[in-house]
Amino acid sequence: MISLYIHIPFCTSKCAYCSFNSMPIFQLENYELQITNYMDALKKEIDYYAETLTDKALKTLYFWWWTPSKIGIFRIIDIIEYIRTKFDFEELAELSIELNPYPEEEVLNFVEVLNKKYPKISRLRYSFGIQSFDDEVLKTTWRAYTFWTIVEFLRALVKLKQDNNVFNFDFIAFGKFQVSKNGFKQLWHEFKREFFKKFLDSGYVDSLSVYTLENIKDKPCPAIYYGTDDEIIEEFLILKSVVEDSGFLRYEISNFARAGKASIHNMVYWNMEPYIGLWLSASSFFGNKRRTNTSDIKQYLEWKYIDEKEVHVLNASDLLIEEFFLRLRTTEWIADLLKFISVLVPNYESLLETYMKAWLVDVYENRLQLTDEGMNVYNSIITDVLQKL
Ligand SMILES: C[S@@+](CC[C@H](N)C(=O)[O-])C[C@H]1O[C@@H](n2cnc3c(N)ncnc32)[C@H](O)[C@@H]1O
Ligand code: SF4
Repeated sequence: MISLYIHIPFCTSKCAYCSFNSMPIFQLENYELQITNYMDALKKEIDYYAETLTDKALKTLYFWWWTPSKIGIFRIIDIIEYIRTKFDFEELAELSIELNPYPEEEVLNFVEVLNKKYPKISRLRYSFGIQSFDDEVLKTTWRAYTFWTIVEFLRALVKLKQDNNVFNFDFIAFGKFQVSKNGFKQLWHEFKREFFKKFLDSGYVDSLSVYTLENIKDKPCPAIYYGTDDEIIEEFLILKSVVEDSGFLRYEISNFARAGKASIHNMVYWNMEPYIGLWLSASSFFGNKRRTNTSDIKQYLEWKYIDEKEVHVLNASDLLIEEFFLRLRTTEWIADLLKFISVLVPNYESLLETYMKAWLVDVYENRLQLTDEGMNVYNSIITDVLQKL
């Protein structure tokens, strides 16, 4: 089985913190014509994989997807239907779409139309990038909504929820706190915290992603919207505890879900299962290769999809190392520990002992997993292990 993801790199505007290779739509000249050309090139890319792959059973289909209103729901349905003519949807476990919740009316219409079109797909997952309830943060990062417009959006959204839907909401810990009247640092105003809590407990939220702000150091973005590294972690831990108090289980460093509602597509990445990324700048992993598509629009339109400089053949030990680090991100035990660790670190016994004494890893027989605390310092653990390689 294979998973597909479609990388749509267009946004209404560019958010100050965004670490992705996305481009404001207004930069496209002659928009309608360009999008039509993209659609043609995308369909050719779909044809290419449909002809090359022998196993065409789709496990998951994911739209990494920024500007629904601009690309249009009907183009998305057109892509899904085109893929359906080339791949086998029989066992499709999840169709997932990322959405910036602005403009609200268009996003709601998008959900309504897609829901009507696909009531039978076993799981239709929507992931909404809320990011923050702090209006100051939203404004300074150039998000086009406020706390109150999001409240209205969420109230309308929950009315659209149908049985096969999974709703995920993204938040980023920016490390920005408000100061209460008595001088204490606090996360958002009291009524926003209460709203958040009620919303989490409402039964309409299936999962949440809580990220710590990353990769902004090399960007010329206004420092006024984010706090120090310590404040970013502090905000993450507060959000995490609120989310966990409402019964969501952490299943990956930044991801929390109700039982059975974890993202199936994202687990494909973390379990090193094969996937193909389509469209500009998308990356793929299948066979023993990682590849990235060109980010050059002209090249893409000439159907030279793959950036040959970005094709990396992984040998047996590269594959083991990558699999180990990816699976370490999740709360699933890594079985067959010795197979991985003997490739990774020559003196692994003493390293494991150090981590176990610091409560960063749990080891049981030949299995290992990070503890909750270990997950919080995943990046330092990776750096530490890589230095010993
Ligand atoms: C691929 S983006 C797409 C979401 C959608 N475009 C939006 O903005 O609402 C997925 C998520 O990555 C997170 N993200 C983006 N830039 C980030 C950064 N610099 N640090 C941490 N998380 C980030 C945001 O939470 C975002 O919702
Ligand atoms: S809308 Fe999403 S993808 Fe686009 S710039 Fe903002 S955070 Fe990045």
